[in-house]
Amino acid sequence: MPGIIERYRERLPFAPGDPVVSLQEGSTPLVLAERLSEKAGLEVWLKLEGANPTGSFKDRGMTCAVSAAVREGARAVICASTGNTAASAAAYSAKAGLRGAVIVPEGKIATGKLAQALMHGARVVALRGNFDEALKLVREVVSRHPISLVNSVNEYRIEGQKTAAFEIAEALAGELDALCIPVGNAGNITAYWKGFREAGLEPRMLGFQAAGAAPLVHGRPVEHPETIASAIRIGNPARWEEAMDAMTSSGGAVRAVTDAEILAAYRLLAASEGVFCEPASAASVAGLLVHGAGEDVHRVVCVLTGHGLKDPQTALEHAGAVVPCDPELAAIERAVLE
Ligand code: F0G
Repeated sequence: MPGIIERYRERLPFAPGDPVVSLQEGSTPLVLAERLSEKAGLEVWLKLEGANPTGSFKDRGMTCAVSAAVREGARAVICASTGNTAASAAAYSAKAGLRGAVIVPEGKIATGKLAQALMHGARVVALRGNFDEALKLVREVVSRHPISLVNSVNEYRIEGQKTAAFEIAEALAGELDALCIPVGNAGNITAYWKGFREAGLEPRMLGFQAAGAAPLVHGRPVEHPETIASAIRIGNPARWEEAMDAMTSSGGAVRAVTDAEILAAYRLLAASEGVFCEPASAASVAGLLVHGAGEDVHRVVCVLTGHGLKDPQTALEHAGAVVPCDPELAAIERAVLE
């Protein structure tokens, strides 16, 4: 499959002949979740965005943001990130031959994401502060230096990420009642809503935030956001109004899920659907199970935004233990069969 710019060029702000920086992102699986469907009492599909090249949905937006930066003659890109944007920006800037700098909250990003950003050769800056402070600072940096900002405040990010809605609309032949999606900086829900409307669909948009980082639910910024779902540990989303508009104009809602509810959904997905996502992604399924999707909803898609391998530490802390064993047949039999 080609990348999303090639696949959807006529619906994206790229002309034939424009430079394209792609790792063949997009075209991710949409999997029917049989056990989850049974549990929720409706048809539940999972959009596996962890299947993108760097393991998260960010690649859809990043191919567009970095391609546009190259078209504009940029030499460097920068972003603030809870981890996935950093990994994606680092990979796509490496592919483009651009310099990349990523600002992340110190000690608060998952190990896999940190490894990715470093391996791709980005300048990784650990800020003694949170994501909201990092975003504010990088906005100031780009106002003073010729560096391209690739956070989702960049319109190209939204354009790229809307293609996930196109894929869902095509795969389900336009039959979709609701979308469940985790909300952090609120770029992705904004992008899906744009994409659905362009595809002629208006599913109920159900956004879920972690209870300790739920500014949209409370209607005011959260100064010290906290959650195990580090990807969505955000207290003042940049796309606040657009996200609220998506939810209100689609008849949807924004709700909170606790860390315990997120972890329960995280384990359920891995153990009974064969899908390993990261904790933030499981907020979509936790939200569906805890709050439901509302009346007259028969078919729902939950967006699983990032791969579980991003955050091995959280997985190991919440999974079963390994079974030690001596190198003898009887011991192996006991270990395997008991
Ligand atoms: N899920 C994952 C795995 C994420 O990494 C993010 C955001 C979201 C959900 C929320 O998406 O911000 O568009 O509402 N991660 C950003 C980052 C903030 O820096 O990687 P959103």
